[in-house]
Amino acid sequence: MRLFLDTANPDQIRTAASWGILDGVTTNPTLMAREGREPRELVREIARWVSGPISVETTSLDAEGMIQEAREFVGWAPNVVVKVPMTPEGLRAVVALRGEGIRTNVTLVFTPVQALLAAKAGATFVSPFVGRLDDIGHVGMDTVRQAVEILRRYGFPTQVLAASLRHPLHVLEAARAGADIATMPFATMEQLFRHPLTDQGLERFLADWRRLQAELSSRTAAPAGGS
Ligand code: E4P
Repeated sequence: MRLFLDTANPDQIRTAASWGILDGVTTNPTLMAREGREPRELVREIARWVSGPISVETTSLDAEGMIQEAREFVGWAPNVVVKVPMTPEGLRAVVALRGEGIRTNVTLVFTPVQALLAAKAGATFVSPFVGRLDDIGHVGMDTVRQAVEILRRYGFPTQVLAASLRHPLHVLEAARAGADIATMPFATMEQLFRHPLTDQGLERFLADWRRLQAELSSRTAAPAGGS
C-alpha cells in the first residue's frame, strides 16, 4: 500500500520524504490557496522532494478547459498527475487525456458507481472521499471497500486512492479495505508512528542503558583491590 501526503506545503513534504515512506502527494485548490504561492513554482518545488505522483487539480468546468490545463500541468514536472472532478465533462477529459498518455485522478468521488464510471473512462486513480461522507453521517469507508471490490472484480487497472482521511483509524481501515493508496494530512502521517508504549519502552531502554554505562565507568574509576 502506498502512502501519499495530502498537502501543498513543501516543508511537510520534505520532512515526510526524509522518513523514507512517502510515495506521492495530492493537492487541491484549497491546499494550494493555503500556501499562497504561484502554483507552477510550488509544484516544481514539491517535485524536488517527491518522485512519485503529484496530483494537481484543474479548475475548468468544461472538458476542453481541463485538457488545456492538464497539458500545461504536465510540463511543470514529469510526475504530475491531473486531477479532474467527477462530472461528465471531467470524464470526457479523462478519456481524451488517456489518449495523450496523461495520467489522471478523478476526485470528489462519493459513491462506488462514480468510481466505476471513472474506471471505465480510463482514470489512473480514483479518489473516494471518506471523511466528508463521515461528516454527513455516512460510512465513508464503505465507498472505498465497494470501489475496490468492483474494480478488482472486473479487472480495471484504475487504482483506488482513499482520500479525505482524517486520522490513523481511517488509514488502517483503508488498508484493510484494499485501497491501493491512502492520502492523508501531515499530522495524520506523523500520528501513524506514535504509540505511548513505544515512547515508554524507549525511555526505559535508554534509562537502563545509561545506568549500565554509569555502573561500568564507576567500576573502571575505582577498581576493587587491595592496598
Ligand atoms: C484528496 O485528494 C483531497 O485533496 C483531500 O483528501 C480532501 O480532504 P478533506 O475532505 O479533509 O478536505
